[in-house]
Amino acid sequence: MYEQLVAEGYLESKRGSATRVTCGGVPRPPYPAPGETPQPFQEQVLHCDLDPGFPSLSAFPRTAWLAAYRAGLSALTDAELGYPPPAGLLSLRREVASYLGRVRSMPTSTDDLVITGGTFDALAVIADCLREAGHSTIAVEDPSNPHLLRMFTAHGLEPVPIAVDEEGLDVSRLDGSGCRAVLVTPAHQYPLGVQLSPQRRRALIDWAIKGDCLVIEDDYDAEYRYDRAALGALRTLAPTVVAYLGTLSKTLAPGLRIGWLAAPAWLCASVRNRKHVGDRGDNVITQAAVREFLGTGGYDRHLRSTRLQYRRLRENLLESVSTHLPDCTPIGIEAGLHVVIRLPEHEQDSTLVEHLATAGIRVAALTAYRHHHSGFPGLVLGWAQARPNQLATSIQTLAGIRGILASERRTPAARPGLRDSL
Ligand SMILES: Cc1ncc(COP(=O)(O)O)c(C=O)c1O
Repeated sequence: MYEQLVAEGYLESKRGSATRVTCGGVPRPPYPAPGETPQPFQEQVLHCDLDPGFPSLSAFPRTAWLAAYRAGLSALTDAELGYPPPAGLLSLRREVASYLGRVRSMPTSTDDLVITGGTFDALAVIADCLREAGHSTIAVEDPSNPHLLRMFTAHGLEPVPIAVDEEGLDVSRLDGSGCRAVLVTPAHQYPLGVQLSPQRRRALIDWAIKGDCLVIEDDYDAEYRYDRAALGALRTLAPTVVAYLGTLSKTLAPGLRIGWLAAPAWLCASVRNRKHVGDRGDNVITQAAVREFLGTGGYDRHLRSTRLQYRRLRENLLESVSTHLPDCTPIGIEAGLHVVIRLPEHEQDSTLVEHLATAGIRVAALTAYRHHHSGFPGLVLGWAQARPNQLATSIQTLAGIRGILASERRTPAARPGLRDSL
């Protein structure tokens, strides 16, 4: 395996000196010293982008989208090109309501829905509404996307991290948290990939009903399930206390900036009001295009074809992991577009991420998603954008780097460090 990586230019081996990670034969940017900020990725040569959070952007259905865009724009009246309704186009809300009923078995009326600029936009507006309603804190999962915590802080809500274990969010800790709102990813926890267990789902709903609290359900990758049955949405259990968020960022492209919120009446009214005051609604032509895309079956066709593509990629990844990383466990791969590769306790995920970056492979360290609670190290790897051969090479490079680091640990004095040799 080392020989192949050397042959492909990912590792460099010289007689009498240590094996080095290279940038696949291209000049490597200066390696940051400890404590120094690494160079931004744009300036490095990126061979394989496994940054989690993206669908296959090359699978974006450009032709079908252009047709939907043209049809959507043609169908808009002159008056509709004015400021859109703060809740979004009624015709799009009808399509979304029917989609949620069909795909998530969620009875939804157009009155329950607000079209958003994606999950982050929706959460920023919800944060403002919660503050207006007297909230100063919000419970979040630990681990979870750190950008979400920063966004809540920027909107005046203090995020309170609550531990996640193999059954999902530890709901029993909500009572002592002082929070009356919580953001959860119950169907496929981000990033660990676990499902919220049936007992905890019940306990979460009980907590919300008893304390007049709000559960925000982020259903970010519901469309992709492989060898696990789709879990029903929490909102179907208790629509008066659960706000549901969907997005097109994981199925089509984050650049579209569009999603939806299905919320209890008070929150729906408050969000519409804030959107009216704050941004005067979201791009109406994109909304019309999404309506066409949903209504004419284009979205379903796109989901069918990407599911097939992802299924194959995922098999490929699992095969590479079992061949080259037999001591690591892939977690959360039953659904979605990312996997956590659980590392043995003594390994540092951030060190591996740095070395992989030097080889032009971008992945994320699980520790970067942890807030107050520590846990096992791991790599969070978004595999949907990669080509099968890139996935295999990246996993082999990772195995090579781990091998070098392990041999350095065994004989630290005898060999120059990997970092020193770079
Ligand atoms: C947990 C989670 N939910 C949802 C999203 C999608 O956000 P948006 O719809 O704003 O692109 C992301 C994006 O990274 C995410 O990490």
